[in-house]
Amino acid sequence: MSAFYGVTSVLYSNLLVKLPVPTGNSELPKQIFIVTGANTGLGFEASLHLARLGVGKLIMAVRTPSKGEDARQRILDLTRRPETSIEVWPLDMDRYDSVKAFAARASELPRLDGVLANAGIMTNTFSWSEDIEKTLNVNVVSTCLLYLLLLPKMHESSQKTGYSCRYVIPNSALHYSAPTAELDPKQHSILNRLNDPEKADMAGRYPLSKLLMIYAVREFAERSKSSEKGSCIINTTNPSFCKSNLANEFQASGGFKVFEKVVARTSEEGSRVLVHGLLAGRETNGQYLSNCRVETPSCHVTGKWGQQVQKKFFGELIEKLESIQPGISLHM
Ligand SMILES: NC(=O)c1ccc[n+]([C@@H]2O[C@H](COP(=O)([O-])OP(=O)(O)OC[C@H]3O[C@@H](n4cnc5c(N)ncnc54)[C@H](OP(=O)(O)O)[C@@H]3O)[C@@H](O)[C@H]2O)c1
Repeated sequence: MSAFYGVTSVLYSNLLVKLPVPTGNSELPKQIFIVTGANTGLGFEASLHLARLGVGKLIMAVRTPSKGEDARQRILDLTRRPETSIEVWPLDMDRYDSVKAFAARASELPRLDGVLANAGIMTNTFSWSEDIEKTLNVNVVSTCLLYLLLLPKMHESSQKTGYSCRYVIPNSALHYSAPTAELDPKQHSILNRLNDPEKADMAGRYPLSKLLMIYAVREFAERSKSSEKGSCIINTTNPSFCKSNLANEFQASGGFKVFEKVVARTSEEGSRVLVHGLLAGRETNGQYLSNCRVETPSCHVTGKWGQQVQKKFFGELIEKLESIQPGISLHM
């Protein structure tokens, strides 16, 4: 039933909903935003919206600097913004030293108002990134590592400016169809099971990574509510099915091409919900958003079983992040 709801929600969203074009506000010219995976697809289009809205500084985080420079130049040409308002910084979510170096550089910024942690991958092939399956590492572990490494800066910025930084992670209606067999909360370790190449269900790995991200967002948000260190808003927003490079591995299939032609949003349309998440209010903290509003995620999140998996997975995630950067959990 959950998977069926996911499919109908994509059809409803893409065929019947007209998304509002993001509009600016008087604070934006003072503010600083980061977009990861900014050189193409949804990240590029979200960057273009932010530049068009006149943000004070946009940092385009990319793994290939030359692609980032091309994208920056296209945005400057289209928006006529000052050269100094857009910077390209290297960030490779496959490598923890790159994530750490990026966060250390960001800690020198005078303020931080929004982070669109957009970089993500979809693949059916098992491969390693650091010591973790690659989809799990890029879409979940490194995305959470970046969040916790930036959290002190986000707290400091909110105390200085009175504005809570938003940390936004793209999600997907595919999370409704995530295979849950790999998540049994009674097993010794969920992460070990997901990192076992013999057992990993790679056909379901991308939807599963998005389900895991909802669990993490809910746990981080719960802690941010009671933090005395400062404030931050974290949400996870679903752009729905869009044309981009994400599904290049599946492009050869005729069925996929037809479905994409009939149903997919453009990346520009999908990026509107990501920018909405970046500018949204406190009511979005810890929430799954779709079509620019808070939505109820899968019953695998809201039900009793989901709550057990969420707690177990989050405990393992924090343990993993502590092994990457000792003391990082104290940032919460
Ligand atoms: N398109 C959809 O239908 C859809 C639907 C729901 C959610 N989303 C989510 O939206 C986000 C953007 O997807 P998209 O559709 O725009 O995909 P895309 O066109 O493939 O763009 C992905 C971006 O992430 C970057 N990236 C991938 N691996 C990286 C790494 N290890 N380190 C740093 N950057 C990395 C890519 O850089 P390179 O160009 O160098 O590869 C690219 O800039 C993803 O999180 C995706 O899960 C997409």
